[in-house]
Amino acid sequence: MALWGGRFSENALNAVQVFTESISFDKRLYKHDICGSKAHAAMLGAAGIIPKKSASAICKELDKILKRIEKGDFTFTAELEDIHMHIETELIKALGDEGARVHTARSRNDQIALDIRLYLRDEIDIIAAKIRELQKALVTQANKNDKVILPGFTHLQHAQPVLFAHHFLAYVEMLERDLGRLADARKRINVMPLGSGAIAGTTLPIDREFVRKKLDFPAMTQNSMDAVADRDFACELLSALSIFAMHISRLSEDLILWMSQEFSFMTFGDAFCTGSSLMPQKKNPDLAELSRGKTGRVYGDLVAMLTICKGLPLTYNRDLQEDKEPLFDAIDTVEGILSVYPDMILSMKLNTERMLAAASEPGLMATDLAEALVRKGVPFRHAHHKVGALVRYAQDKGKPLDKVTLAEMKKVFPEADADMKKLFSAVHAVAGREVPGGTGFNEVRGQLDKWTDIFGIK
Ligand code: ARG
Repeated sequence: MALWGGRFSENALNAVQVFTESISFDKRLYKHDICGSKAHAAMLGAAGIIPKKSASAICKELDKILKRIEKGDFTFTAELEDIHMHIETELIKALGDEGARVHTARSRNDQIALDIRLYLRDEIDIIAAKIRELQKALVTQANKNDKVILPGFTHLQHAQPVLFAHHFLAYVEMLERDLGRLADARKRINVMPLGSGAIAGTTLPIDREFVRKKLDFPAMTQNSMDAVADRDFACELLSALSIFAMHISRLSEDLILWMSQEFSFMTFGDAFCTGSSLMPQKKNPDLAELSRGKTGRVYGDLVAMLTICKGLPLTYNRDLQEDKEPLFDAIDTVEGILSVYPDMILSMKLNTERMLAAASEPGLMATDLAEALVRKGVPFRHAHHKVGALVRYAQDKGKPLDKVTLAEMKKVFPEADADMKKLFSAVHAVAGREVPGGTGFNEVRGQLDKWTDIFGIK
């Protein structure tokens, strides 16, 4: 008979147990469930709701159960539904009536709300540390290649020369915002819900403040109905993880393109690529591709969570049990990506000549020419038009822009001078962009130094 079986005359059918169980996936919450139960039992003892000696017997037994689960000496079964029932059943088996006191003034509704919050708090810290590692890897590669120039793209068309370090630091900025979003989600996760009972609180004189302090929460929930029904924090975390995954996917896409034969800007170390079962010559960027692909799973997890919550009347509904698999899947997926990504970045070998050659195509310096005309007093829109006409002229003549003679240039715009012929250099183009946030060598060096300093590397 289940722990909740008092009012039932028949046992659940096996298929029903299999359908309703969550132990197959919520067993990973065992540590947090035990930690929450210990704090709860200690509070019940301190508040005189159960005998002090029962409270300490419960805490001791919970420690033993924890060790047994960790050793693999614990049987999980669909019959006992979820992690809460497993641990409580074991406690009662060991302690009899004393164990039967642990669930006083508590419901699984506030218990699970507590467990997930405790669990997510820890996972966020793990993920945040791994994102830092990735940022460090990006900065390390950028430092190693701090003078390397490649074409910057818009519309996947050559736009202007940029520093490789500038490109990588763009991702460092994105990841920094991801960390901010995770920290923000953590604040709202870090609120103690226990004491809400099933929905309305309890008639027993519990001390929620005691539990809050014991479990190191800076705040506790203020409305018991909200506390058992709320999964905003899960939606919020999944949103933050989705945006992070989107950034990973974009970076992956850049790297996959760069490694293609058409770009040939770089390659990963062999350990981070795989071959083809048929084509002997192949070296494929599978880790980057899988990371891009797995982003789809994380989005799916977010949409699942939002959809689960959307039609739910207050307060707890069993639908909420479905929160766990998307959360766990997103966390596992993101942690999986982060377990390989930093080293994959560090393994990159750049083909710097190829990058510079691509960035040196004179068309990429057309903007610089227009800006030189601006310096001569030509309004920018007119300058843009004149340089556009020169680009068309060069195309018609079948020669690159830098091969147009000064005399030819003067025919299109009389303001042309010999210095304008010197603009067709990628190094010159980068060096000229010393605006805050621009790709100029000094600007980027300043940014690199800032991040190197923040991360304490080099
Ligand atoms: N396994 C359940 C969950 O994950 C625990 C809460 C069950 N509460 C209930 N009243 N059936 O949501």
